[in-house]
Amino acid sequence: MSKALVIAIDGPSGTGKSSVSKAVASRLGVSYLDTGAMYRALAWSCVDAQIDLDDAAAVAEHCRTFDLRMGMDPTAPSVGVGDRLIDAEIREDAVTSVVSKVATNLDVRANLKQRQRDLIADGAARTGGCVAEGRDITTVVAPDAPVRILMTASEEARMSRRSRQLKVAAESTRAQIVDRDRTDSTVSQFTTAADGVVTVDTSHINFRQSVDAVLQVVQEVIDGD
Ligand code: DC
Repeated sequence: MSKALVIAIDGPSGTGKSSVSKAVASRLGVSYLDTGAMYRALAWSCVDAQIDLDDAAAVAEHCRTFDLRMGMDPTAPSVGVGDRLIDAEIREDAVTSVVSKVATNLDVRANLKQRQRDLIADGAARTGGCVAEGRDITTVVAPDAPVRILMTASEEARMSRRSRQLKVAAESTRAQIVDRDRTDSTVSQFTTAADGVVTVDTSHINFRQSVDAVLQVVQEVIDGD
């Protein structure tokens, strides 16, 4: 593979996007970037620094200076702020329930977009490629990526996967996810595929089949070069 293989994957929660992206990156031996984790890290860091999440200017200012460190090995991805690893903390409800507040801040998005572009370029330079997943990777962060995929799944499939993952009652999960997707979709368009983006619908396929479906799209792009 001579040219950097950047694979952009977008989609809402519960499509299997994160586990599939990690597995695809491992199989291809390239870097992996979870951009949602970056928004989560900022939310965690704001709470830690006692910044009011409703103060958009203060959140944007904190975003410009916080020392975010993303580990991009797909077999052991990590998220840190300074020397502190916060992989567990960013998955807690205290972060999940407020992360949309920072993710809908347009100054934050501009800052993290640049960081994401730099991380993708660094990761690709080191390993020959990068799988980057999020909500606006195919459209805003890496619209020129050679492979762009939108992972979708029926609402039913997404909710049941998510509640299995979180081991909580289906109803509370549904309300939280629907609410968060609605808020997030005010700033990114991740429910229908943009021009040139390939849709992979995971409603009726399992994890292994989803990984194969993405790898097949990648292979078609490589073969077409
Ligand atoms: O995928 P996730 O649940 O970890 O994402 C966390 C939050 O960040 C969620 O509110 C969506 C938002 N997000 C975003 O706005 N843009 C991205 N590229 C990735 C995530």
